[in-house]
Amino acid sequence: MLPSSISYLVTLALVLPGGRGKAAGAAAKGTKGAKGTQGTGTGTSTNTGTGATAAAPPADATGLQSSTTIDPSVIQTTDDGQNPPVTGQSAATTSPNNFANFCATGLPQVPITNGLQITTGSCNPTPIGNIPSVDNMPSSKFQSPKNLDTIASGQTFNVTLKTQGIQLGTFTNAAKTYFANPQTLNTQGQIIGHTHIVMEAIPSLTSTAVTNPQDFTFFKGVDNGQDAQGNVEVEVTNGVQPGVYRMCTIVSSATHQPAIVPVAQHGSLDDCVYFTAAPGGADATGATGATGATGATGATGATGATGATGATGATGTQTKGKTAGTGKAAGAAKTAGKAGAAKGKAGKA
Ligand SMILES: *[C@@H]1O[C@H](CO)[C@@H](O)[C@H](O)[C@H]1NC(C)=O
Repeated sequence: MLPSSISYLVTLALVLPGGRGKAAGAAAKGTKGAKGTQGTGTGTSTNTGTGATAAAPPADATGLQSSTTIDPSVIQTTDDGQNPPVTGQSAATTSPNNFANFCATGLPQVPITNGLQITTGSCNPTPIGNIPSVDNMPSSKFQSPKNLDTIASGQTFNVTLKTQGIQLGTFTNAAKTYFANPQTLNTQGQIIGHTHIVMEAIPSLTSTAVTNPQDFTFFKGVDNGQDAQGNVEVEVTNGVQPGVYRMCTIVSSATHQPAIVPVAQHGSLDDCVYFTAAPGGADATGATGATGATGATGATGATGATGATGATGATGTQTKGKTAGTGKAAGAAKTAGKAGAAKGKAGKA
C-alpha cells in the first residue's frame, strides 16, 4: 500500500500481481487554485510572432526582474491541502505572498543563504523556478565502474556516467552563487545544470551501516556536457585505496540545488553503484604474490516485492481545464521482481 501522503497524486492505479506491476494511473491534477489576478497591463507580451521559435524575452523589458514587489500574476493560491483532511497528512501552511518574507522570521540567527554554503544553516529565499515535464526528468547510470566491479586500487581510472533528460555542463560559482538562482530549462525543456560524482568508503558490499554525508573519499563536480552517447568522464587521479566504495551521482541545477521534477512519484534521478578496489584489481595474476580480495558473499536474492497497491485517486475538483487524462502513471508500482544482487565476486589470487 502506498503511503497515504503520496496517494493524492495517483488515480486509476492498476495493480498487477507479481512481476512488473505498473501503475497505470493518470497523474490527477488535484485542485487547481484560481489564477491570480493579472498584473495591471505593463505590457508583458514579448513574443514578436516570428514563428515557432519564440525569441528569448529581453532581459528585463518589463522591469519585473528588478522590482522588489511581487507581481500579482505569480501569487500562488495553494491551500493547506486538508480539504478534506486526510489521516496522517499534515496541513501545509499558506501564504498570501508566496512566503516572500519567510526567511525574515529567522533573522538574525538564521542568515539568508545569500549565495554562500553556510555550514551552520541558513534560509534561502530564491524560488524553485522552472520545472520540466515528466518527459524531461533526468536519469543517470554509471557505465564504469559498473555495479559490483572490482578495479585496481592506487591506479588512475575514469568514471564513465551516462545521463539523459538534462543538459549537463552548466555550473555557477559554488562559493558565491550557491542556490542563488531558480532552476531553468533549455529550449528542449530540459533542466540546465550539471552532475557530481561522490565516492564513500564503506565496510563491505553488504554493509548495512548508515553512512556519514560529511565523510567521503572522492568528490567531483562534472564540468562537461554529455558527449553524443550521453556520457561524461571523470578521471580519478591515482585511484582509490583498497576497499569497498559506494559511488553515487548528485544531479543538480546550475546553481547547485538538487534537480526538481514535476511529480512526486518517479524513479531515482541519481545512480549509486558499489565497487571494490583491490591491489591488482580484477586482473591480478598472482605473479607478484598479491593476494586477491576475498570475494564478497553473494547477497540473498531479494524476494519479488508485492505490487504496490494502487493509490486512491485524487478527487479532482478542478472546475475548468482537463480532467485527469491519460497521463503517464505516476505510480511507483513497479515491483522489484528481480532477484537481488546475488553476485559474489570471487577474489583472484
Ligand atoms: C579518461 O578519459 C579522458 C577523456 O576521454 C581521457 O583523455 C583519459 O585518457 C582517460 N583516462 C584514463 C585513465 O583512461
